[in-house]
Amino acid sequence: MPDDRLIVALDVPDAVTGLALADRLGEAVSFYKIGLGMLTGGGLALARELKDERGKRVFLDMKLFDIGATVEAAVRGLARFDLDFLTVHGDPHVVRAASEGAAGSDLRILAVTVLTSLDRADLDAAMIRPGTMAEIVAERAARALDAGADGLIASPQEAAVLRALPQAAGKLIVTPGVRPAGAGSHDQKRIATPAEAIAAGADHIVVGRPIWQAPDPGAAARAIRDSLPAR
Ligand code: C5P
Repeated sequence: MPDDRLIVALDVPDAVTGLALADRLGEAVSFYKIGLGMLTGGGLALARELKDERGKRVFLDMKLFDIGATVEAAVRGLARFDLDFLTVHGDPHVVRAASEGAAGSDLRILAVTVLTSLDRADLDAAMIRPGTMAEIVAERAARALDAGADGLIASPQEAAVLRALPQAAGKLIVTPGVRPAGAGSHDQKRIATPAEAIAAGADHIVVGRPIWQAPDPGAAARAIRDSLPAR
């Protein structure tokens, strides 16, 4: 049975490679993430193909940020592609505009709070007010949800705190930074296993390299799927 809690990040260079990988994974995976890196490599065409021809769910990870009118126009255009999830930065004006652009479609807007590649020194350089990273993440999450986000992107370490926010009731939490026990962490620093991420309150986990770099990607995906707690 496909389990849509597992989202596979198709971080391969182009749509042809992505489609070949998806076809290799077959029924083991029903939800894919397409990122900015594939935009110039046929990413939107791949999204349509996966959705319309393969019956998969699709998460477009674009992390949009701009003035409201531009975000709204971009999201309105993307909403026509009949996709499932789209990321934007969690600033309230961006989230509000994205929600407007997605109105009337099934596209869910997920807010990024603080990129996990940033630390406090980066926040200082961006003139973001004092406070620990955890405080800033929780406050940005609450504001994004108040502004109409359908869910949040969170590291597994943040998932439990965000799940406990009153605003997060009924909202989606999607966590990258997930590694099966014993898998290499690559450049991910704050990792958890798939089961830990779900237990912390994630609705979906995003896994890339442990699947698409595996000698047998289908077996790797099935092992992750089978490690998740029963629903
Ligand atoms: O290969 P790996 O499992 O690390 O891939 C994780 C995916 O999630 C990548 O597409 C990466 O860009 C994305 N991502 C992340 N950490 C975030 C946000 C997105 O790893 N904080």
